[in-house]
Amino acid sequence: MKKTVLSGIRPTGDLHLGNYFGALKNFVKMQDEFNCYFFVADYHSLTTHPNPENLRKNTRRVLANYVAAGLDPKKCALYIQSDVQEVVELYLFLNMSAYLGELERSVTFKDKARQQPDNVNAGLLTYPVLQAADILIHKAHFVPVGKDQEQHLEMARTLANRFNHLYKVEYFAEPQAYNFGEQLVKIPGLDGSGKMGKSEGEANAIFLGEEPESIRKKVMKAVTDSGPTEPNQEKPEAIKNIFQLMSVVSKPDTLDFFENAYNTCQIRYGDMKKQLAEDMILFTAPFRERINDLLADEKGLDAIAAEGAEKARISARKTIDEVRGIIGF
Ligand code: TYM
Repeated sequence: MKKTVLSGIRPTGDLHLGNYFGALKNFVKMQDEFNCYFFVADYHSLTTHPNPENLRKNTRRVLANYVAAGLDPKKCALYIQSDVQEVVELYLFLNMSAYLGELERSVTFKDKARQQPDNVNAGLLTYPVLQAADILIHKAHFVPVGKDQEQHLEMARTLANRFNHLYKVEYFAEPQAYNFGEQLVKIPGLDGSGKMGKSEGEANAIFLGEEPESIRKKVMKAVTDSGPTEPNQEKPEAIKNIFQLMSVVSKPDTLDFFENAYNTCQIRYGDMKKQLAEDMILFTAPFRERINDLLADEKGLDAIAAEGAEKARISARKTIDEVRGIIGF
């Protein structure tokens, strides 16, 4: 029997190169080896009160991004979280043994409470419980997670064990983190520090569905400095980042050319960024085209979502029926 893998991404619009190399590209590889559930976490996004139009638009965009990146609706269950309402029922059950103290200690809760002090709602507090429900509803064995989500996975294990203990059953197994480890390519942002991410500002990230003109503008604004003054000088962080991005999207010859220019102090960052922008455009073009095609075909995308929902509901329904039985309904 294939082991089950599950992951969700919040519907924040198009995915960026960091999401692609950090998650999507690896999900695509997992499709053959595992029984995969990949979903758009639209319930989760309600903590920030999106307007209905944006919620719908961004959810569909993420789904289209998934498919454009190579996730195959025939190979995995590719679904929208809110199409599988069983997850809400499991969330309710798990909430009964999730304690205030532990929820308040969550790093992501503390961060969010700081970011949106006027909207510290209970959904934000119980976000890790909903995430645990996502995972446990399909009895996932593995969940690919970055560092910032490890605490949430720990909570899923705690809640699984607590449920078993409370009802004296061996029902839920502990989901484990799936680490891509060495396979992960580092994708820095354009602002000279840290990794690519939308929370650092739109201008810091390049999106899979982004238009060429916008990519050019962003890359040309990427942080650089006045250039090396000595041959073979060590690169400052911001410059290393530009080279790292180039190593991901450009040809090796192109990278060598600019490495050499740097080492001989002849580099012109304007030229390098122009080249990087064109290579980013070439790299993202097939994604952009597929995303646009998928979004243009509304019925087609609906059918993809429906197929995924159907697969996910079979597994979710089974779990909920069993859990209800265990609880005494
Ligand atoms: P988020 O938006 O931080 O990341 C989305 C998903 O990308 C994958 N991922 C990684 N996997 C392995 N190694 C990494 N370094 C790495 N970085 C990102 C993860 O699969 C991650 O889930 N709260 C979640 C969304 C969510 C969810 C879930 C995730 C809701 N329910 C259930 C997993 C399981 C989030 O913000 O993920």
